[in-house]
Amino acid sequence: GKIRFVTHDQTEHVVEFDTGTSLMQIAVDNAIPGVDGDCGGECACGTCHLIVAPEWFEITGTPGDHEEQMLSMTPERAPTSRLGCQVRATEAMDGMTVRLPEFQM
Ligand code: FES
Repeated sequence: GKIRFVTHDQTEHVVEFDTGTSLMQIAVDNAIPGVDGDCGGECACGTCHLIVAPEWFEITGTPGDHEEQMLSMTPERAPTSRLGCQVRATEAMDGMTVRLPEFQM
């Protein structure tokens, strides 16, 4: 499937993904600017903050307690924010749009 990453300056990056890969890893593999994944996907750094397009939010599931804690410290947190490392891509996400925050922690 394909996911569309939109950076804060509205640049669109449409990338192929394999199911089971985290959104953070997909972004890093495709050199999407603004996703660092500093902690390697341990839900400990917050540098993989993504804002899911509202119509796609439900499909990404619900943030866990630890993710919720990290998100609560994220300055640009939006109602549909997720940590990219905590969301695994599924076929249902084909065509999904996610936005990058202006500043990544
Ligand atoms: Fe560190 Fe997601 S990669 S919190």
